[in-house]
Order: sequence, then C-alpha cells, then structure tokens
Amino acid sequence: MRAVTVSAFTADLLAGLRSRPRRIAPKWFYDAAGSRLFERICELPEYYPTRTELAMLAAHAQELARRVGPGAEIVEFGAGASRKVRLLLDALAAPRRFVAVDISGEHLAGAAAALRDDYPGLEVETVVGDFSADLDLPPPRGCRIGFFPGSSIGNFDPAAAVALLRRFAGWLEGGALLIGVDLVKDPALLHAAYNDSQGVTAGFNLNLLVRANREAGADFDVDAWAHSAFYNPPLQRIEMHLVSRRRQAVEVAGERFEFDEGASIHTENSYKYTAEGFAALAQQAGFGTGAVWIDPARRFSLHWLQPLTQEERR
Ligand code: AVI
Repeated sequence: MRAVTVSAFTADLLAGLRSRPRRIAPKWFYDAAGSRLFERICELPEYYPTRTELAMLAAHAQELARRVGPGAEIVEFGAGASRKVRLLLDALAAPRRFVAVDISGEHLAGAAAALRDDYPGLEVETVVGDFSADLDLPPPRGCRIGFFPGSSIGNFDPAAAVALLRRFAGWLEGGALLIGVDLVKDPALLHAAYNDSQGVTAGFNLNLLVRANREAGADFDVDAWAHSAFYNPPLQRIEMHLVSRRRQAVEVAGERFEFDEGASIHTENSYKYTAEGFAALAQQAGFGTGAVWIDPARRFSLHWLQPLTQEERR
C-alpha cells in the first residue's frame, strides 16, 4: 500500500476530531486570513487587552529600557504584526538585533521588511516555527530579552504554560522575559471581549473550518456551525467552541465524522490570572519576579521575569 503523507495541520485536525472532547488546537487559527482577522480583533472596542497593553508599554517604556540595557537582543515569540515591539525598540538604547518568531511565515516577512525600513541600524531576523514545539533560534547576540505580549500564554493550559516558560527560561539565560498576562475580572467584560458585536471573533473561530476545507480536504458547511465563547469561572478561562447547528456528517481527508446537533469542537482556552497566581506559575518554571505592572483599571498585567540561576534554584 502507498503511504499517504498529510500536512501537520491535517494530521492534528484528524487527531483532534477523533478525540473526546473534540478539539482543534488554537495555533491553527493563524493562516493568512486568520492572522488578518486577529488583527481586526485587536482593534475592536470590546477587546481591551491590545489597547491596554500598548498603553502600558508606552507608559513604562523608559523603565523597561533601563531594565533591558544597551545593545540588547529582543526575541518576540508569536511576533505577528510586530506592532507592540516598536514601543520597546523606540525606547531602547542601540538595540542590536530583533528576532521575530512566528508560525505564519507570510505574515512575518511583511512585518520584518517594515521593521528593517523603519529601524535602519537594527538587524532583523525571522524564524518561522512553532515555539511551543521545536524551534531553532540563532545563537544570541548580546543580552537576550524575550518578549511574549498579548497574553498568548493564556492559550496554554497551566501545565503547558509552565513547560513553555521553562523552555523560554532556557533560551533567555542571563537575560529576561517581558510577558503580557490578562487578569481575572468581571465575567461580563470577558464575555463581551470574545463575543464582539461585529462578529469578528466568530469569523476568526469559523475560519478554522474554511482552512480545513481548503487545506485538509474537508467539506464543512461553515453555515452549519456557530461560534460559542463563555467564561468558565472555576478554571478561570474563556472557552471557545464551534457548535454544530444540526445533525450532520463531515468528511476530512477521506474520513467521515458525525456530529449531533449541539456537538462541540473545542478550539481555544484563554486563561486569566491574578498577578500573584501568574508569578507563582513563572516561579515553577524557573523564573524569579523582577517587576509587575498593572493598568489603572486592573485589566492587564506586564511581568518582567528573570531566569533563576542554578544556585538560586537550589
Ligand atoms: C492570541 N490570544 C491571546 C487571543 C486571546 O485573547 O486568547 C486570541 C483570541 N481569541 C479570541 N479572541 C482573541
């Protein structure tokens, strides 16, 4: 029999639809269309994290620059449009290199070209890859500072978040991590942020099915699925699901899947933390806390974390 090779996306999609509960990992949101939709989410009036974090980076830029020091290298994990890092780069003394890491190569190339134009003295390197799996980072040039904004850490469950932070700590020895973390808050604000009135978040969620039809030989009827997002208080997370509007069968890469009316495919968790809760998580991963900033409305936090040395861990 001839072996059939399928893409990583198709393989993961098939595994996720065979499992119970059914799931699709959120990293697959970010094809070109999904990345554009995510940028629109960041502009929505209900989606407070981006605006809040940008304001915090601007407000604390000088202090951050003092902590980073001159001639540093900034590595952004999940760089996307690289808008936030500009606030940092503008404040830093002679940053040496910016390394942009993202799973979407198409998106990354454009953002890197714009950064090269706007920061002529700065080396800009791109690394296309999945930082939650295996990643080949170039050897460091200068003190390496990791940048992980947007509360992307919230899309990992706490055990996976610790594992990811531990990997970051290994890459950032002698440097630091600047990370944005969304805070626990009034569930009504969270609900609005993930159920926007223009339906952009719904489109972002449903785009997974469009992608599956295009890239994984699937025949999802996108209109037969609904976006669902709700806050789960005991687990302190927003959950996003795609919910079947009717009983239906779908074929993916030649395999048939059946869904009852109301059946769900779990597509994302977005964990929210208290500042203390996140500091404790980072400590489990081998970081000591250097500083925490919280915005005046107490919606979002920025953490400056330094990997502990072997001696400090003992
Ligand atoms: C990228 N990530 C932190 C976003 C979040 O809020 O969890 C993704 C997102 N999903 C729906 N809206 C935004």
